Amino acid sequence: MTHVELPTPALVIDAEKVRRNLRRMAEYAAAHGLKLRPHTKTHKSVMLGRMQTEIGGAAGLTVAKAGEAAVMIDACDDLLIAYPTVDRLRCEAVAELAARKTVCVGLDSAAAVEALSAAATSAGSTVGVLVELDVGMHRVGVQSPQAAVALAQKVARAPALPFAGLMFYPGHIGTKPDEQTAPLAAVEAMLGETLDLLRRGGLEARIVSGGSTPTAMRSHLVRGLTEIRPGTYIFNDMNCVRGGFAALDDCAARVVCTVVSDVVPGQVVIDAGTKTLTSDRCGPAPDSGHGHVVEYPAAKITRLTEEHGQVDVSGCDRVPKVGDQVTVIPNHICPCVNLQDRVYWQELGEAPRPLTVDARGRVF
Ligand SMILES: Cc1ncc(COP(=O)(O)O)c(C=O)c1O
Repeated sequence: MTHVELPTPALVIDAEKVRRNLRRMAEYAAAHGLKLRPHTKTHKSVMLGRMQTEIGGAAGLTVAKAGEAAVMIDACDDLLIAYPTVDRLRCEAVAELAARKTVCVGLDSAAAVEALSAAATSAGSTVGVLVELDVGMHRVGVQSPQAAVALAQKVARAPALPFAGLMFYPGHIGTKPDEQTAPLAAVEAMLGETLDLLRRGGLEARIVSGGSTPTAMRSHLVRGLTEIRPGTYIFNDMNCVRGGFAALDDCAARVVCTVVSDVVPGQVVIDAGTKTLTSDRCGPAPDSGHGHVVEYPAAKITRLTEEHGQVDVSGCDRVPKVGDQVTVIPNHICPCVNLQDRVYWQELGEAPRPLTVDARGRVF
């Protein structure tokens, strides 16, 4: 594959690997009777959102923010905003979208219920609500099954907000898949208690939405789950590789970089710094540097400044020279994509095509 024509640093997406990653997740979900609602924050592309629904087995899509929802609504008929929507502007934006397509929001506060209900009522739309449960990450989510039921009852009484079910994000579980049985059993126990209490209170959770890329392939261990929301799986990254959730060959998004300096002994400098690779360290291996250099596996990206990546090549048996191109698999691909206006879509044997990152920068 040649990347010589590309202006670097260039984020190149391998189409065949993407299709393989999508197929694998679709087959897993279908085999276990789970719906798939991929989180599109990883790619932020309408084309890839459509691909997830058309060939990737997705029954709907997930976004984080209202701004992403306004873009991704063109890619599907059923959207989950997996982020608390509390302020007036955001609630109004969501309520307007809900007049066009099926929209659900995950939330964890009475204030969010009131704000969203007011916005949906004045827009004349209905917004389904999933009550978010904290299953161990301690980021958002109500803190107990009892609190979930109390909030669900408030939702059920609120105008224009049908109670649709529960959601949770197991972002605290990053151990290897075969070590996830115990932490997932704890999730299942909390979920089971909540579902029991809901039923006794006369409320039905039609949707129980969970799943992350690390836990995706163990989702069948959590009884009660109806759908999963992996996002990173479409591309994978070094977090996935080092965590044991993907192989290097499954990493579909790679940054082609040019070596711009080699004057410091034992080091080369690439044209990708934090403005391309972000500052994210590798969660499962914090000392591993800022990404994996595919052609020089013994190289280590030791330090990034905004536009420079310092690569220690002292352990390599051969080294790239100034002007050479190297390919880097980032630690965390999602924020890297969000830094690009366009990425490059690479079909086998064809020249890479620019692909707009439609929801880039949509953090509202
Ligand atoms: C609420 C929520 N759901 C799903 C996901 C997707 O998880 P992953 O990035 O592991 O694929 C994320 C990721 O941040 C998330 O925050």
